[in-house]
Amino acid sequence: MNHLLSMNELSLNDIQYILNKATDYIKGRKEHRMQDFMVANLFFEPSTRTKFSFEAAEHRLGIKALNVEGSTSSLQKGETLYDTLRTLEEIGVSAFVIRHPQDRYFDGLAEKVNVPIINAGDGCGNHPTQSLLDLLTIQQEFIVLQGLTVVIVGDILHSRVARSNAEVLRKMGAKVLFSGPKEWFVDEWRKDFIPMDEAVKTADVMMMLRIQHERHTKSMLLPKEEYHQKFGLTVEREQNMKSHSIIMHPAPVNRGVELADELVECQRSRIFKQVQNGVYIRMAVLKWALTTNQEAVANGLFTKK
Ligand code: CP
Repeated sequence: MNHLLSMNELSLNDIQYILNKATDYIKGRKEHRMQDFMVANLFFEPSTRTKFSFEAAEHRLGIKALNVEGSTSSLQKGETLYDTLRTLEEIGVSAFVIRHPQDRYFDGLAEKVNVPIINAGDGCGNHPTQSLLDLLTIQQEFIVLQGLTVVIVGDILHSRVARSNAEVLRKMGAKVLFSGPKEWFVDEWRKDFIPMDEAVKTADVMMMLRIQHERHTKSMLLPKEEYHQKFGLTVEREQNMKSHSIIMHPAPVNRGVELADELVECQRSRIFKQVQNGVYIRMAVLKWALTTNQEAVANGLFTKK
């Protein structure tokens, strides 16, 4: 079963399959045999990019989308998520796309359902499709990730993007460093800290993170302007970046906090490119989750899961 719960499920072969497939879709490749699939989108946390790019991806592939609203489904009557998924399975759903506020909501579910779960973000845990679209954006820019320096900056502790990206970027040969307030670091990455003024001179990719106020138990440590000056990508710092370096951010952006307002759409920014790539990556992930077992086993590329 091709669940996509975290980047750990994916081999380098799988990652390359998804990136190549997304690139084919960017070049205009069409799929003609996916109209019999029906996918349920279940979003229990706010989302603009992930939710609507999955819907757009399903539409482009000819897949029927069922959008399950937490507020109007029988979850409101106390039905468990497992019973909801099993019910949708019996109705004929071929895969679930789920965003949920709880870290690893899928533990204990994935092994019990009979169709793939595609994780669209779990609490502070994982965001694998964001990670894949980030990889595609970096690959478009630099061709190979081997030898690149990526600095991930900001609210690392609460970021599922940081977690999903750091490991896979390293697996693919990039050097990953971290910057931002030390209070938001995770222990295993403390040794990889780089001060912001050094980071901008070193990085090929500055990956800025949103401050996730909704996940903070204490209020923000610093006033916004002070945070921006100490840890943000300011207009002055951007001028010290290497000529070829790029700025990424999963968005939504707190303009003027982690990133200067003027830099959101500057020449180095790939923020809206990331959004665009998100549609093609989600098409490729749906194709991988729904069909690669048959396709890949036939081609001898993957072992059957
Ligand atoms: N980057 C991201 O996951 O954005 P949304 O929360 O809008 O989906």
